[in-house]
Amino acid sequence: MNVRIGIAGLGRLGRVHAQNLLSSVPDCSLIAACSVIEEELQFARDILRITYTFSNYEDMIRSDLIDAVFIITPSGFHCEHINLAFKYGKHVFCEKPIGLDVHEIKQTQQIIQSNQELVFMLGFMRRYDESYRYAKSIVDRGEIGDITLLRCYGIDPTSGLESFIAFAKHNFSGGLFIDMAIHDIDLVRWFTGHEISQVWAIGKNSLYPELDALRELETGAVMMQLDNNTIALIVAGRNAAHGYHIETEIIGTKGMIRVAQTPDKNLVTIMNAHGVIRPCSQHFSERFRDAFIEEAREFIRCIQEKRSPQVTAQDGLQATVIALACQESYEGNHLVQIDY
Ligand code: NAI
Repeated sequence: MNVRIGIAGLGRLGRVHAQNLLSSVPDCSLIAACSVIEEELQFARDILRITYTFSNYEDMIRSDLIDAVFIITPSGFHCEHINLAFKYGKHVFCEKPIGLDVHEIKQTQQIIQSNQELVFMLGFMRRYDESYRYAKSIVDRGEIGDITLLRCYGIDPTSGLESFIAFAKHNFSGGLFIDMAIHDIDLVRWFTGHEISQVWAIGKNSLYPELDALRELETGAVMMQLDNNTIALIVAGRNAAHGYHIETEIIGTKGMIRVAQTPDKNLVTIMNAHGVIRPCSQHFSERFRDAFIEEAREFIRCIQEKRSPQVTAQDGLQATVIALACQESYEGNHLVQIDY
């Protein structure tokens, strides 16, 4: 079966997914696109050669032209767009986070659960990254023993900070923890198989102190305790001078794992008058290029084989609950217990 897809959102990440679907994902056709920005629709028609374009999401989702939708719209729209997709009988791939509001997510989760014949997948793409999968298999085989601590860094490059400041003046990302740390929150849950029970988050705006008033952060850190006393330390930021820095360390009773302890672009080392230089990964689309492709392929396979993807709406809900607790902890400057 060839899966006919419509994509909602052709911004920073929507373009990456669109290009992957057109060039690297078998058994599907990207035939429709929706954006509220006319130049993006022009791009879809002229460059991507997408036949049908829409400026209204509901017009696209109710059409019989498509079987499935990729939702890559701003996070505040995700629940509404998922709900509409299920109403019109479409399979859904949705970018993280599943939503920004817990009540709204729970309603969406019920809709997803009562439509089991439709596939729902959430875009925690790190679970499809080769290095993270390799690390997970080591952990699952018990090779590093019982996990005692995880340390996760997720820091965007300084090159994106100016455009983030412009964005933040008119929009709210949901805050650093839901916008950025949510990937690491998911990794902590995935690697340990345990829930996070309390968090203490702090943050600092150095280069752009005006972010304080916007409830946004350049750099934030969270100390977490899991329900089996495992410790997790998460650093999230928007200001890494050298590039896109994603690093994870897992300490166990029999060993340690580090994934990308330096954010290498590739295997090249340059030796010149400036010393020994390792080029650095600069963007999420570069570091996780293969993971974005692999998760899209898995979505299509799940539709064809009528099975459920590994990343569920429950994973999305839990990650948002924890990220919101981190934001509450940071804003209230106190430790937050998470009740399940
Ligand atoms: P963006 O602001 O660059 O693009 C948003 C797109 O959504 C635009 O094409 C806009 O026209 C469209 N849009 C806005 N409102 C709409 C509506 N009501 N109906 C239809 N289309 C609408 O945003 P960006 O950075 O591409 O982020 C999109 C989503 O992807 C966010 O939820 C974000 O959290 C997620 N994301 C995930 C990443 C990851 O690492 N997995 C990386 C970057 C973003």
